[in-house]
Amino acid sequence: MKKDGAIGVFDSGIGGLTVVKGIMDRLPYENVVYFGDTARVPYGTKSVETINKFTAQIVEFLLSHEVKALVVACNTISAVALDTVYQLAGDIPVIDVISSGAKASVMSTLNHNIGVIATNATVNSNAYTRAIYQLDNQSRVYAKACPLFVPFVEEGLLDHPALELIARDYLNVLEHEGIDTLILGCTHYPLIKPLIRKIMHDKINIIDSSLVASEDLAILLESTGLATEVNNDRIIEHKFYVSDVPAKFQKMAESFLNRNMPLPQLVNLDS
Ligand code: DGL
Repeated sequence: MKKDGAIGVFDSGIGGLTVVKGIMDRLPYENVVYFGDTARVPYGTKSVETINKFTAQIVEFLLSHEVKALVVACNTISAVALDTVYQLAGDIPVIDVISSGAKASVMSTLNHNIGVIATNATVNSNAYTRAIYQLDNQSRVYAKACPLFVPFVEEGLLDHPALELIARDYLNVLEHEGIDTLILGCTHYPLIKPLIRKIMHDKINIIDSSLVASEDLAILLESTGLATEVNNDRIIEHKFYVSDVPAKFQKMAESFLNRNMPLPQLVNLDS
């Protein structure tokens, strides 16, 4: 693996850009190769078999770009297809949002009551509960699927009053469980963090998996000697690939990342 290789980041669609933003802010000298499966999103409502099949195709695509590390930005993939990622990655190190989010939640909680909000597939997999329990066997994890959040975010309806009503309905249950820490267990949820913050008690610490995964990536690159040396002359060249509607991705990416973006390249992973 070469130090100057890129970081391969992938997601079921556009949501993984929250992780890309975290990486760009935390590791500004690293190049990113991103794949978003915009033709087949959402994954959160699909079967484990289908998600594993799609995941294998994406990982093989990124490995063909000689990435030096992989970041599984999608919580649903991290929940149900992580073994597939590791099998294909071989000795390429892997960071995933669930391991990072679980670790951060255990470090944050004082009363061991941790809430997780995520897609149906992630909640049904119990992946967060298992990851948290392995680190803290006194923990009680309350997971709540919030399937309507993703379509609202995808449609850009972040301030829509209907979203607030739905969010209150989803989140009040968790507040009554006495959680002191809440994990945003889906790529899209950091984009509605202000709304979640408004609804949840001030004392509840909100863990944004996209930020903690970027921090874990920084630690991993440093500890494995794979970090790019700080060099102001280095040309940073991120590459973005999608499986459908590149123009929509470009528009949303420009507003998420607050910078001009080239049109991502279209890739058909089935061919
Ligand atoms: N990227 C997915 C996740 O983090 C959300 C969108 C989807 O359902 O595919 O779980």
